[in-house]
Amino acid sequence: MPTQLNYNTSVDKNTDVALIVGAGEAGSLAELSSEEASYVTQQVENEAKLISLNRYTQRVYLLITSEAKTESAARETLRQAGYTLLKQLKADKVQTLAIKDYTGSQASLYLAEGLFLSNYQFQGYKTKNHKPHQLQTITIADTNVSEKEVQELQHVLEAVYKTRDLVNQPNSHQSATQLSEQLDEMASEAGFMAESLDELRIMALKMGGLLAVNQGSEEPPTFNILEWKPENAKNQQPYILVGKGVVYDTGGLSLKPTPQSMDYMKSDMAGAATVAGVMYALAKNQVPLHVIALIPATDNRPGGKAYAPGDVITMHNGTTVEVLNTDAEGRLILADALSFAQKYNPQLVIDFATLTGSAMRAVGKEGLVAMGTAGEEVMNGLKQTGEAVYERIVEFPLWDEYKKQLESDIADLKNIGGADAGHITAGKFLEAFTSYPWVHFDIAGTAYLHSEDSYRGKLATGSGLRLVYNYLRSLAN
Ligand code: BES
Ligand code: MN
Ligand code: ZN
Repeated sequence: MPTQLNYNTSVDKNTDVALIVGAGEAGSLAELSSEEASYVTQQVENEAKLISLNRYTQRVYLLITSEAKTESAARETLRQAGYTLLKQLKADKVQTLAIKDYTGSQASLYLAEGLFLSNYQFQGYKTKNHKPHQLQTITIADTNVSEKEVQELQHVLEAVYKTRDLVNQPNSHQSATQLSEQLDEMASEAGFMAESLDELRIMALKMGGLLAVNQGSEEPPTFNILEWKPENAKNQQPYILVGKGVVYDTGGLSLKPTPQSMDYMKSDMAGAATVAGVMYALAKNQVPLHVIALIPATDNRPGGKAYAPGDVITMHNGTTVEVLNTDAEGRLILADALSFAQKYNPQLVIDFATLTGSAMRAVGKEGLVAMGTAGEEVMNGLKQTGEAVYERIVEFPLWDEYKKQLESDIADLKNIGGADAGHITAGKFLEAFTSYPWVHFDIAGTAYLHSEDSYRGKLATGSGLRLVYNYLRSLAN
């Protein structure tokens, strides 16, 4: 059971409650007794941000807000406060929490978001000492927020849980075929279409990139097409999302060293999980847009038939590629999906991929690396949404000079560039397979974390989901 998010503007006296209030107002809240009020005033003077009152039948948590530089920073502070508050709620064994806001700025939504996302737990494979969720229900009691907004948020955050679950699933339980089944389940739950093309269909489509990466595998590849097409769709041409679905990346014959490198490569389908999560949220919220997601899926292994450095492959669109590193596999499967996208005559294509260590080194876990050809309006829209949801974007250039690094002696392209700017040469490679407005997100640094980062959690984060959902949502208005 995921966390439940409810809407109910009346809070009874036995329900534990969080009050969001400005430092100046906290001491004079009508609902505090005079003893409580003077305690709160004193705590506020000591610059306390979270003040707990124990009324024995009810716990009260005051979250003290202060001036923030920007609206984006204020919201992020609230999400982070949700993370801090959850630790206290767990200690106090709180199961249901109501949120009241005295700032009149819909602060309850952001606090709830932080609480909800921090409350995620992977239902993993521990057979002992399984600790169930303590906090089960969050009730928003805020007249500045509508029930519809709460409902929408619940669906988006549930989608983040789904995405995190997909990413945290190990390859032992997630072959390409199993991933397709998992996508199918999400589709029937949310009400969008899912179709999975098998190896024969992929061969018929001459997806040479996906087939080459799959050659060393014992498991067949899949190519997944998810579609949300409501009757009231506002767009004529579809928006297309593409997600890298490498269910496990050993590097292939250009094998990765295990420590620190191969160990976490079950997360190499995070792009696929993100776009599937966006589809889930769009369908659950009946967003009036026609959106298609394309997910090429395979593992990348050094089996007997594995593709090898030096091989030349022919891609779905006929381009020939000299493979000089089998660990640069993501761009090969994405390229086939990107050229396949052309047949839909898309309005815009956005891809998500844990594509390069270089992107991770460039900005770490603090931002999504982006580049593209969609132009300023789209990029600015995405950046604005990125600030609002705090999935911030760092844009890199697709200058043509970088493309020189991809020149091959014997084929149209080679699949790696030089030592520098690897995330950009990867982007330039992908660009060669696009012929429509396009944005590429490299989420190698943000999708999977080795230590807890506030409400983003540890392990899978669901990076990019809230960003694209909210961006597309804004286009539907
Ligand atoms: N899946 C990796 C990228 C990656 C690295 C994701 C670290 C998450 C964390 C990708 O397939 C890869 O191996 N990229 C290579 C490309 C290189 C061979 C040009 C890389 O970045 O080292
Ligand atoms: Mn790789
Ligand atoms: Zn990879």
